[in-house]
Amino acid sequence: MKYENKDLLDLYKLKAEEHWHTMFNPMLKYLGNLEGKRILDIGCGSGELTNKMAETAGQVTGLDLSPKWIEYCKISYQRKNLSFVQGSATDLKMFPDDYFDIIIMNLVLPNIYKVADMEKIFLEIKRVTRISGEFIFSDVHPILKMTKKEGARRQEYSKGFSYFKEGSKLSVIVALPNKKEIEFEDAHWSLSFYSDLIEKYGFGLVKIIESNYPKNAPKKFFRYSFPEYITFCCKKLK
Ligand SMILES: C[S@@+](CC[C@H](N)C(=O)[O-])C[C@H]1O[C@@H](n2cnc3c(N)ncnc32)[C@H](O)[C@@H]1O
Repeated sequence: MKYENKDLLDLYKLKAEEHWHTMFNPMLKYLGNLEGKRILDIGCGSGELTNKMAETAGQVTGLDLSPKWIEYCKISYQRKNLSFVQGSATDLKMFPDDYFDIIIMNLVLPNIYKVADMEKIFLEIKRVTRISGEFIFSDVHPILKMTKKEGARRQEYSKGFSYFKEGSKLSVIVALPNKKEIEFEDAHWSLSFYSDLIEKYGFGLVKIIESNYPKNAPKKFFRYSFPEYITFCCKKLK
């Protein structure tokens, strides 16, 4: 699986600290008080955000496709109100209808390559979220994907790549601090595709958060001159 590759794992760990400043803190600020809330973190990865939310939330579940990440999370975090399960976002049958107050899905969708799977994911999320519940998901910002090179990152587009071709693939090549280059493949989804899915599955878009560096973020992070990530904050309307 993609995130079980050693080099990619090194990059992931490198980015995790940065993500607190650029993505996780703004998202938690948006959500506000988590007291008593039932939360599902889809594609929880190393579970740092999942664990943080469990400090104050009622009950938090982290779900990931990777058995290794789930094993890692189970060993790393133990709280009465926190559990981790292995599974896919395309099939959430282990959870009842209208169950969660909040669903988080951070940077998972670049790993989904088929429109049919995107539809399954949104359908399942609609089913397990209660009315007025929050659904927050993020992706790499299209502005970054359409920039050939910035900082330690560059992209190469697969044959036939188009911004408007949903699920088009791009190779991302990143130089690690030790100068070693690693390459991985992401799927691209357009903003209008996301907007259509949000509407089709009964959610309303409340806010978009474009990642940025707060003044107090450590200087060691590369300052992108545009947003690296886009976060969609939605509410279930029907
Ligand atoms: C870039 S990582 C993000 C991890 C975490 N959400 C974060 O922001 O730090 C993407 C995660 O999504 C998981 N993933 C990929 N496809 C998935 C699927 N269909 N269902 C559940 N998890 C999936 C991967 O195993 C990986 O842990």
